[in-house]
Amino acid sequence: MSQELRAVEWTGTGLALIDQTALPHRTTTVDVHDVDTLVDAIQRLVVRGAPAIGAAGAYGVAIALLQGAREGWTESETREAVARVREARPTAVNLMVCVDRVMTRFDDGLDAVLAEAAAVQREDVEANRAMGAFGADWLLKRIDADRPLRILTHCNTGALATAGWGTALGVIRELHARGRLEVVYADETRPLLQGSRLTAWELVQEGIPHFVQADGAAAGTILRGEVDAAIVGADRIAANGDTANKVGTVGVALACADAGIPFLVAAPTTTVDLSTPDGAAIHIELRGEDEVLEWGGVRTAPAESRGHNPAFDVTPGRLVTGLVTERGVLEVSAGELPGDRLR
Ligand code: MRU
Repeated sequence: MSQELRAVEWTGTGLALIDQTALPHRTTTVDVHDVDTLVDAIQRLVVRGAPAIGAAGAYGVAIALLQGAREGWTESETREAVARVREARPTAVNLMVCVDRVMTRFDDGLDAVLAEAAAVQREDVEANRAMGAFGADWLLKRIDADRPLRILTHCNTGALATAGWGTALGVIRELHARGRLEVVYADETRPLLQGSRLTAWELVQEGIPHFVQADGAAAGTILRGEVDAAIVGADRIAANGDTANKVGTVGVALACADAGIPFLVAAPTTTVDLSTPDGAAIHIELRGEDEVLEWGGVRTAPAESRGHNPAFDVTPGRLVTGLVTERGVLEVSAGELPGDRLR
């Protein structure tokens, strides 16, 4: 693709967010000029993916300042509005980290806040490019294959989920650019289909060969030897290497462990949360029951059924072969814990 996608774009007066609920059928944007619209966009997954909601939250501080000036808010009202953005979703630590970083410039005014938010966005793209190279180097060194690689991924970790390029999908794009990628198995990612709607859409834009498969197919594909490695993103990585990512990830990791193939997590260091000791301490977002009981607004489960809809699961660090960050690849299950190496 000649022009890099921008899921989150500052227009000068507000945010333009690619509406990820409408993809792949419609490419539209949602304009955001107030805090309620931003919180709603984050909660409805108009904008989603840990680094992308981090970038949106960073600019959310500017949106609160502008709205506060228009509507005559006190400083504490503006700070409360920022806190609502910060808490719009609980699992991805990037949202809190990015809002807190930009809030260090709050007292310096709008221009300083905007400069910091732009730096958050710029640094995320730089980190993604670095991860792409580190991850591709590691996979090509580690996997002894005289043919291009077959990679499985779960959820969407591409340009849509970040400030640009992508984390796990960035590694996949780098392998493709080097001519070392045969095919991607993209898990469809129930219940909101980030894999079949968004990852497949990005792969089509890039001309990358891929299969979309049901989440339930992943373990079988891996155990049949049809995959060389799996690579996924993360929403929060605890100090012991336990990793929260889109629900269904832990099953992929278990299958990779059984098959003896690498399971990589690619995430910027802003996703590593050393204040969270382990996976049990990660707040897993529980979303509305209707997302699993209905499809397209039509009830698919019996009227009497209840839905259980955790948006994420935790993969124990022992199942994570390597963590790809902008600093390199840590071999987590070989004892290089993030907490030890990223402090
Ligand atoms: O609920 P979502 O779509 O925001 O979940 C996204 C994921 O789980 C991604 O894998 C993660 O945020 C990493 S994005 C680079």
